[in-house]
Amino acid sequence: MKNINWQDLSFGYYKTDYNVRCHYKDGKWGELEVSDSEYLPIHMSSTCLHYGQEAFEGLKAFRGKDGKVRLFRCEENAKRMQNTADYIMMKAPSSELFSEAVVKAIELNKEYIPPYESGASLYIRPLLIGVGPQMGVAPSKEFLFTVFVSPVGPYFKTGFKPVKVLMEHTDDRAAPHGTGHIKVGGNYAAGMRAGEAAHHKGYAMAIFLDAKEKKYIDECGPANFFGIKDNTYITPSATTILPSITNASIMEIAKDMGLKVERRLIPIEELATFKEAGACGTAAVISPIGSVEDSTSGQVITIGKPDQVGELTEKLYNRLRGIQYGDCEDKFGWNEILEF
Ligand code: PLP
Ligand code: COI
Repeated sequence: MKNINWQDLSFGYYKTDYNVRCHYKDGKWGELEVSDSEYLPIHMSSTCLHYGQEAFEGLKAFRGKDGKVRLFRCEENAKRMQNTADYIMMKAPSSELFSEAVVKAIELNKEYIPPYESGASLYIRPLLIGVGPQMGVAPSKEFLFTVFVSPVGPYFKTGFKPVKVLMEHTDDRAAPHGTGHIKVGGNYAAGMRAGEAAHHKGYAMAIFLDAKEKKYIDECGPANFFGIKDNTYITPSATTILPSITNASIMEIAKDMGLKVERRLIPIEELATFKEAGACGTAAVISPIGSVEDSTSGQVITIGKPDQVGELTEKLYNRLRGIQYGDCEDKFGWNEILEF
């Protein structure tokens, strides 16, 4: 294992030894290649650079107390990359190719999988880009699929503590019939200005509203939103929201714990009625939200006891992390145990 200060890792890029690549050309995928370069040689007229033909994914592998490495729900990320690729007219790797590339990238960098005690994990970033030259707006005929990995710690420097978020009223992350439901870089570019403004004002992230009416909670920059009250887990449902694999998993766990689960519109006014709330995603895991400030009115909506993690949020977090690290039974069959 590499000599890294695992406990001090935050969520960021960390150079590892290898990445894997696969080219799509002449109507088919080539062989998986291993590279030790951090750079991609691509044509300057590639569609990914000019017309945003790019899709990415994020998933994690965890080292358990038993030393085994568990990969969490890789198949779901493969499917989501296929949905993304279909929508923006790219060729996606099959689930088999996706999984083979992910496992290979982990194996080649297994020295970088953080030890159990550190609470860190290995983040895996599959990337699919259009690399064929086009000048007119048209889909590429060539694609590059790359998988690289990075050991990561908590997404928010506060760790598992309630964060303050800023409600964005001006910028939209995604349009109702746009690309919010798929994982394309353009969504993050659209949300970057609001995200940075929130960071500069001391907030962990921006929370976006529905683009049409500005009445409902949409999602956070890098994560889905949820609220909890009356033994019910409530998360927004909209065409603009990325179907989070973490959120889908938490909903299963919540039902298993006897909570009701609702996916529906959440009006802004409802925020004040939640006893607990959080943001969830692969990078964010579950990040409790202690308060939401309205960027227009300046009103601060506190949720539960703002400095304290809510009881159910903590239970959901412990169960999710427990499954991922192998401390709780994987009753849903979400982990693939990697032997190498
Ligand atoms: N929403 C957005 C905008 C995201 O970028 C992410 C991260 O992938 C999520 C939600 C959470 O999705 P997942 O749990 O599949 O990582
Ligand atoms: C993830 O959680 O995997 C994400 O993609 C979020 C973010 C870092 C963009």
